[in-house]
Amino acid sequence: MKVTPVSEILGAEVTGIDLSGTLGSETKAALREAFLTYQVLVIRDQTLSPAQQVAFSKIWGDLEIPANIQHTTEESQNVMILSNEIRPDGTAVGVVDGGDFWHSDSSHVAVPSMITILQSVRNPDRGGDTEFCNMYAVYAALPQDLKQKIEGQYGIHHVSKTVNKRVTISPDRPGAKDFYEAQAAARAQVIQPLVLVHPETGRKALYCSPRFTVGIKGMSEEQADPILDELFAYVTDRKRPYHYRHKYRANDLVLWDNRCLCHRAVGGYGLPDIRRMHRTVVGGDRAYADQAAS
Ligand code: OGA
Ligand code: MN
Repeated sequence: MKVTPVSEILGAEVTGIDLSGTLGSETKAALREAFLTYQVLVIRDQTLSPAQQVAFSKIWGDLEIPANIQHTTEESQNVMILSNEIRPDGTAVGVVDGGDFWHSDSSHVAVPSMITILQSVRNPDRGGDTEFCNMYAVYAALPQDLKQKIEGQYGIHHVSKTVNKRVTISPDRPGAKDFYEAQAAARAQVIQPLVLVHPETGRKALYCSPRFTVGIKGMSEEQADPILDELFAYVTDRKRPYHYRHKYRANDLVLWDNRCLCHRAVGGYGLPDIRRMHRTVVGGDRAYADQAAS
């Protein structure tokens, strides 16, 4: 197994390993160490069946059951399909346009996702990259006064796009507006520490995102907005100094650490060009905050 960084700021490519079989404890330990060091692993040349992807994913912890049961594979309900493919009857094969704004997966629930794993099953001819932002590096780069303002504070997170003025709803996703409106009413907001101490590395990372963080606990909108805007500017910065953009090769399996990264789907592809990813998620093992949101 060979581990090679893919950028100066985050991410490493892993070659010379076949994830379809049983992995030895030394290999697993080496993978975990590389993962904690680089935050994103790009494991090349994998063609895992859904069951094999599930077996590999379980090495890292317990899996989340996808909420979107109609978009899972036939072979395994633990594997969700991300795809822009539309069946002749107008229904979507997978989740269309997932992750189009910067976020960390499931930060809108009390126990957020730990690790997300995508296997590229079909890549479009152009577009379809995933972009990552190193939130350890962002935290380290914050000016001292901003660090002081957010230390010990909690971001308010909500899943619905309709309660978030910083995002828009994709026109390509069938029924999206109704879906988000129902979510706005049905789902609660949760709080998360703005500065997260990574449970395994002990390093501090900024933990908030334009997609899910809609306020700061105990602050009015007028107080919170300038702080959030300043924080989000590091993540959405056009110069992208803390970022790595992954362009998928055939058969890449990519895993990332939601505790210290934000990510987004860049898009830039469209039918008849098809992108298909198989997604598994290792659930969190703890809540980061233990207080109620309001
Ligand atoms: C996700 C996600 C990005 C992508 O699966 O959580 O944000 O590029 N995916 O598909
Ligand atoms: Mn995501």
